Amino acid sequence: MRTRSHTAGQLREEHTGESVQLCGWVHARREQSAGLVFIDVRDRYGITQLVFDAEDSGSELPPQAKGLHLEDVIAVRGQVRAREKTNKRIETGAVEVVVTELEVLSRTASPPLIPSDEKNLPAEETRLKHRYLDLRRPKMQDILRTRHRVSKLARDYFDAQGFLEIETPNLCRSTPEGARDFLVPSRNQPGMWYALPQSPQLFKQILMVGGADRYLQICRCFRDEDPRADRQAEFTQIDCEMSFVDRKEVLAIMEGFARSVWKDVMGVDLPAFPQITYQEAMDRYGIDRPDTRYELELVDVSDLCAKTEFKVFEEALAKPRGVVKAIRVPGGADKLTRKITDGYSKFVQDFGAGGVPVTKVAGGTLEAGIAKFVEPIAGDLIDRLGAKNGDTILFGADTYSVATKALGELRQKVAKDMDLIPEGAWNFLWVVDFPMFEWDEETSRFYAMHHPFTAPADHELDRFMGMDPSDTEGIESIVSDGYDMVCNGSEIGGGSIRIHQQDVQKKVFQLLGISDEEAKLKFNFLLDALSYGAPPHGGIAFGLDRLIMHLTGTDNIRDVIAFPKSLTGMDLMCEAPNVVDDEQLGELHVKSTAKK
Ligand code: AMO
Repeated sequence: MRTRSHTAGQLREEHTGESVQLCGWVHARREQSAGLVFIDVRDRYGITQLVFDAEDSGSELPPQAKGLHLEDVIAVRGQVRAREKTNKRIETGAVEVVVTELEVLSRTASPPLIPSDEKNLPAEETRLKHRYLDLRRPKMQDILRTRHRVSKLARDYFDAQGFLEIETPNLCRSTPEGARDFLVPSRNQPGMWYALPQSPQLFKQILMVGGADRYLQICRCFRDEDPRADRQAEFTQIDCEMSFVDRKEVLAIMEGFARSVWKDVMGVDLPAFPQITYQEAMDRYGIDRPDTRYELELVDVSDLCAKTEFKVFEEALAKPRGVVKAIRVPGGADKLTRKITDGYSKFVQDFGAGGVPVTKVAGGTLEAGIAKFVEPIAGDLIDRLGAKNGDTILFGADTYSVATKALGELRQKVAKDMDLIPEGAWNFLWVVDFPMFEWDEETSRFYAMHHPFTAPADHELDRFMGMDPSDTEGIESIVSDGYDMVCNGSEIGGGSIRIHQQDVQKKVFQLLGISDEEAKLKFNFLLDALSYGAPPHGGIAFGLDRLIMHLTGTDNIRDVIAFPKSLTGMDLMCEAPNVVDDEQLGELHVKSTAKK
């Protein structure tokens, strides 16, 4: 017996009386009496109760069933009968199978993880090491199913819109997406290296030049960066590109995709996605992926604070682009104890800020914390923030970028501490009008904020083309045609309208400080392609793993990937990366300098 007539999730009342054959894992075991044993058998489709009854089926079966261990693999023959009392927690709960024959297909060693015991899961390391056991958990099976469903929905949705699924290489030349490359040595070309794609960005653009018109790929991307809760070195994108489109058309199609996924998987009708500019997002939320499920907005109070003699504010406002910003926390006075707000001061230090000045509203004025320093402006502050008795006010005082970033991060922490995040809310939005370039203090140079193939906004084109490379302020102020899709404060997709004229692309390289020779060396194929009739085009890539995280309610990206890497980038099951022998390295013309 190694085949089945039904799955363990299939039997219903209408099957009563039928002879069936089931296979699966022993999920649970209960002994009612010496002659009566119940076993739950589980497979991907569900759980069915098996009855081993000495009276009904022959005397040898109950003792055999007693000898079974959780996670043994069994096959049984038996007859379906209606249960006296339906178990509503499982879909097969109206019936059970009275077993007449049992075969043990595979015995288990004592498992380090019991899939039926969600409450006592071992450490994640053990789950990853024994991933085959972890994947048996019904919750993980559900995630795999959702992931499959979303991939299928993507293929169906984009197919209906005329997109073609086209594969692009994994062994390629690196394209600058901002992360470190994974490199693969070439055996045939000594000293030469392939890079694994950080994304298929240039291939999809070249497919547009090649006339593909609408492209889709569910593809793996590789970025050698440290894994985080929502970031893996190897992750999956739903990658799209379209020709002869403007931003409005791309956003409409991509929004339609997100809406169809949420409708199908969650049964939720999403309203039209609002758009917010990058600048407004930074001003109001201190972050380019704002979580708008709660308020806690950042309010500029620099003009008011300039009237005080509080040293922290004075010093901040004396800095270039110095600001004071404030967040009103409704009802914070009770919940945010001194200990918690002291913790906030430590928290913001990670983002370069010195601390978080705090005060509270009581009796229509300010009290405690820095109240005495801001006394002259108390009434104006309360008015500006719309503050009420019982509120706490948190301040960020520094340069615009430090104060906004620190308060933007703190805002998310406060929302959690104050329990302000509504259950089941879905707040989608588009962030648009990103700057083209971002100045990096450390390396003293500009980087492309999205990637260097993003077009300047139409109305910026003339100004952009005339931009002097030494005009840093001018360069910083150019707005691009890039956009991000944000869901509940997480970036689930990012894209842009691309550059399709060679001279515009060359100008980007110039402003990035990439010389003509370097551009030719690295991007000749792109510049060449752009010189042979490139259509205007644009697109986006969704982070498939992040979509699934939202749809399955987990904040750990490793939960939504069948075989993820650990936080130190290891595959703990296969023990990769690992050493290879010198002969293998020799063939690849590589010598390791690592100490063994
Ligand atoms: P970007 O780098 O913004 O754009 O990536 C697109 C989306 O992919 C997801 N994502 C990740 N998910 C998990 N782990 C990671 N390390 C990771 N990095 C990114 C995010 C993000 O929004 N070629 C461009 C797209 C384009 O311009 O069309 C690109 O890759 O959800």
